[in-house]
Amino acid sequence: MVIYYSSTGRTKAAAEELAKLKGTTAFELRLAKPLGKAVGAVMALLKKAAPLLASPDISKEPELYLCSPVWAGQMTPAMRQFIAETNFTGKTVSVLLTCAAAEGHERYKLGVLEALSGKGAAIGFVLVFASPKEGFDRETLREHLTELT
Ligand SMILES: Cc1cc2nc3c(=O)[nH]c(=O)nc-3n(C[C@H](O)[C@H](O)[C@H](O)COP(=O)(O)O)c2cc1C
Repeated sequence: MVIYYSSTGRTKAAAEELAKLKGTTAFELRLAKPLGKAVGAVMALLKKAAPLLASPDISKEPELYLCSPVWAGQMTPAMRQFIAETNFTGKTVSVLLTCAAAEGHERYKLGVLEALSGKGAAIGFVLVFASPKEGFDRETLREHLTELT
């Protein structure tokens, strides 16, 4: 199952393509209360989680693909919440982050691995995609994902 949070649609596009490629479903995490940009950035920076409207049932899912934008160099509060409340024992967890900048990717990856440590997951891939201003072109996304996953 692909589990994603997306504010402006870029991660959603990547998540949907990844779900198609893996032949699995996609679940969108939604916040109980939407965060403004500035508050969201500060919460992300402080590694805070934010309450979700609903969480997916992952009991029968051996493979999980978590997709989130990078906010202030960190995962989003929505994805942090999902990770905090979930026991990943027996599951393989892969991560796809989208961001604006071409640099910082290794740091973003380390942040994800830190959030997942001690949660029982076997780690699959961790990818960071810099998203173009106009959004991802689906064809390019598909090519990247086919090549990298
Ligand atoms: C609050 C906020 C903070 C962000 N911080 C970063 C950042 O630190 N580094 C970066 O490269 N991009 C940053 N971005 C850009 C997003 O990561 C990027 O546009 C992402 O692809 C958006 O995904 P979405 O369309 O699924 O919401 C930030 C965007 C927002 C809204």
